[in-house]
Amino acid sequence: MQQTVQQQEFALHDGDFRKIANLVMETTGIVISDRKRAFISGRLGRRLRTLGLSGFGDYCRLLESDAGDAERLMLVNAITTNHTAFFREPHHFEALAANVLPSINAAQGQRGGRLRIWSAGCSTGEEPYTLAMLLCEQSAQLADWDVKILATDLDTNVVAHAAAGIYDAERVESIPGNFRKKYFTAQADGRGVMGEAVRSLISFAPLNLLQGWPMRGPFDIIFCRNVVIYFDKPTQRRLFDRYADMLKPDGWLFIGHSESLLSVTDRFKLVGRTIYRRIK
Ligand SMILES: C[S@@+](CC[C@H](N)C(=O)[O-])C[C@H]1O[C@@H](n2cnc3c(N)ncnc32)[C@H](O)[C@@H]1O
Repeated sequence: MQQTVQQQEFALHDGDFRKIANLVMETTGIVISDRKRAFISGRLGRRLRTLGLSGFGDYCRLLESDAGDAERLMLVNAITTNHTAFFREPHHFEALAANVLPSINAAQGQRGGRLRIWSAGCSTGEEPYTLAMLLCEQSAQLADWDVKILATDLDTNVVAHAAAGIYDAERVESIPGNFRKKYFTAQADGRGVMGEAVRSLISFAPLNLLQGWPMRGPFDIIFCRNVVIYFDKPTQRRLFDRYADMLKPDGWLFIGHSESLLSVTDRFKLVGRTIYRRIK
């Protein structure tokens, strides 16, 4: 009996691991190296228990079957890494307020401009809400502007969390006091709810960056931070090429602290710390 329980704790053999890794790579661009086997086994072990399956062989058969569509979505949700924070990599938001918005403002004229920002791979929403709070702070500079932020992620669970705009007390505590007081309301349970002024600037939607994009753009600014770190170079190259097409000429691209466009694309020039502008 004990042995059965042991076996049901799901050994992940080579063949099944490769099938799952290939499926994830094809669907999301996320590369799963051999070092990630324990991580995959742990994350998906929970799925197997929920589904009442006896092993990864059955799980792979389910994924490959006609009924596998829904489970492929669950698989993707289970393996994405969603770490994020409000005001993460604060130099980006400082540059935005000090240089980027004034530059866009000067190029478009003082009144009645249009500003489109895309937070691609927005996770649970901290990044687009930080952008939106910052834009609310710039309301004098952006008076009469038509401002919209599109926030997308492949993982449908995090998009739902982001759209709800409710955060645990510790997360809200990490936000500078002036922003917290102005833009959050505390709930009875201690969690914080994003205020309407901020929420109204953002549209949340599930979107796989590797598939077709329904929006036409063009965007003034794209944030795609700490997303491509999991992709191989050819996937990164295709994605940044599409970002360049989706940006206005001279548009701005912000990437994550450990990411770089060096030997990936020549369509952008580096203008700050992990800040780029489209040049082609
Ligand atoms: C580590 S989080 C980064 C969140 C935020 N941009 C930040 O820097 O704090 C990476 C996000 O990218 C998303 N992601 C990964 N592959 C994706 C894909 N192919 N399409 C869309 N989103 C993807 C994941 O679901 C995850 O929420």
